[in-house]
Amino acid sequence: MSNVQRTYSMIKPDAVASGQIGEILAVLEHNGFRIVGMKMRQLSVAEAEGFYGVHRERPFFPDLIRFITEGPVVTLALEREDAVVKLREVMGATNPANAAEGTIRKRFAASIERNCIHGSDSDENAAIELAYFFSAVDLAK
Ligand code: RTP
Ligand code: MG
Repeated sequence: MSNVQRTYSMIKPDAVASGQIGEILAVLEHNGFRIVGMKMRQLSVAEAEGFYGVHRERPFFPDLIRFITEGPVVTLALEREDAVVKLREVMGATNPANAAEGTIRKRFAASIERNCIHGSDSDENAAIELAYFFSAVDLAK
């Protein structure tokens, strides 16, 4: 049975600043993701704290908020078969040192903190994160 679904992704400020938007989008498209929503914007601290609220108690939280708000990000709504799991595969491990060869983080990320791309980690969070950044009217049919 087909499981075409949508997930949320975000090209982080490190990759935007180093001119890797195009290459990362190309990897996503080559892996069968259809871009159904896309917007570049700089997150406010309040928006970032809301987005990463689950990590509020973690020691790296202040650094994470500083990083994700340091410059513009590209917010993405992506569609494909099994999009949530497939995006996490294409992204690679959180720490690029542990990421598999050919993954986006292996190719473009500098460190566990500056790791170039976000992807929702579950179907439930994909729905929450897509709604956080996109209105239904802004997404392609
Ligand atoms: P993301 O949410 O950005 O897609 O990354 P992820 O699921 O692979 O990793 P997660 O555990 O959700 O962590 C969110 C982001 O926090 C930063 N981080 N820093 N210094 C550290 O130990 C550490 N751990 C996580 C990373 O930017 C990570 O992507
Ligand atoms: Mg995560």
